Amino acid sequence: MKTYKIASIPGDGIGKEVVPAAIRVLREVENIHGGLKFEVSEYPWGSEYYLEHQQMMPEDGLGTLKHFDAIFLGAVGNPDIVPDHISLWELLINIRRSFEQVINIRPARTFAGLSSKLANSEDFDFIVVRENSEGEYSEAGGTIHQGGDKVAIQNAIFSRKGTERAMKFAFELAEQRRNKVTSATKSNGIYHTMPFWDEVFKDVSDNFPEVQTEKEHIDALAASFVTRPERFDVIVASNLFGDILTDIGAAIMGSVGIAPAANINMNGKYPSMFEPVHGSAPDIEGKGMANPIGQIWTAKMMLDHFGETEIADQLLTAIESVIRKGIVTQDIGGKATTTEVTDEIIQQLAEVT
Ligand code: NAD
Ligand code: IPM
Ligand code: MN
Repeated sequence: MKTYKIASIPGDGIGKEVVPAAIRVLREVENIHGGLKFEVSEYPWGSEYYLEHQQMMPEDGLGTLKHFDAIFLGAVGNPDIVPDHISLWELLINIRRSFEQVINIRPARTFAGLSSKLANSEDFDFIVVRENSEGEYSEAGGTIHQGGDKVAIQNAIFSRKGTERAMKFAFELAEQRRNKVTSATKSNGIYHTMPFWDEVFKDVSDNFPEVQTEKEHIDALAASFVTRPERFDVIVASNLFGDILTDIGAAIMGSVGIAPAANINMNGKYPSMFEPVHGSAPDIEGKGMANPIGQIWTAKMMLDHFGETEIADQLLTAIESVIRKGIVTQDIGGKATTTEVTDEIIQQLAEVT
């Protein structure tokens, strides 16, 4: 019996709806493939936990998570009760940083039966490789008083090691796909970090002569995602640019509710974490409206990470057929509830395998 130990953290809001949905799908995977077992341990860490314990997870939370094969997270954030910069930095960002999950992989593509209201193309398929550990998300800086004025200073940190690592990852991924990497830059306006980003991109690209490269300023690139998304194969972006681009990637697919993501630890010292692009969506919490596809496709990425690629592909086929049949939630034009979509994916999974 092949067993995978998964730490599940539903978190806040719709995370508590879509994580159980995705776990149900994993249970069906177990039913179908007798030799496979997912040992899931659930941790109730999030904003409500914070109200009770004044921390987002126990003191030894990271020590607990360290021993798992993967972390499966829904979303964190309930700004009505805990400020986002506390909830996110103590849980989500803390795990990404502490477990050296330095790369965030975020695909976006078209699906038959789901026509995007936004994208000016019926056919695109790209992956954003987001640098996940430094860049604009740094703790460096602070507030100072300048004369009578209070000033907030935020330092962005771009190390050669971190930048090169993300870019190398992007090129290697492109080699397995359509051999093209686009760099999200802003070296025309951001004085120090972005010219450095371009310099590293040039250096890394020299090692991949067969891969076509281009760089595009983030403002123009954001527009191109909408107007000509079919142009892209792999896009490499800094932490913040990658964050913004991947919500656009989600929107052109049809909804942020379907976009998956994987936070990858590359040195094998810690588990990787799988959590969709979307957040806790407090506006639709408890209404049965949450699209579970983002979380379920994220589970597919976790299966790929485990090396279970055949099963992962079957799961994606099941998602594709449910989308094609239109048994989907409101955000992508359907009438189904979270549970109905999940039921349908489970049924399709049984049929495709
Ligand atoms: P959000 O992604 O939660 O919501 C944006 C919009 O998309 C909302 O209208 C929401 O209803 C919709 N949406 C999101 N997921 C959906 C789904 N699965 N199905 C259908 N519709 C969906 O972004 P936000 O409103 O900026 O953030 C809400 C909270 O989540 C904040 O606390 C934020 O910090 C946090 N957040 C957490 C994560 C994470 O944990 N990975 C990611 C993003 C935002
Ligand atoms: C994401 C989220 C997080 C990020 C927030 C909630 C801190 O937007 O995972 O895309 O910016 O990384
Ligand atoms: Mn985001």
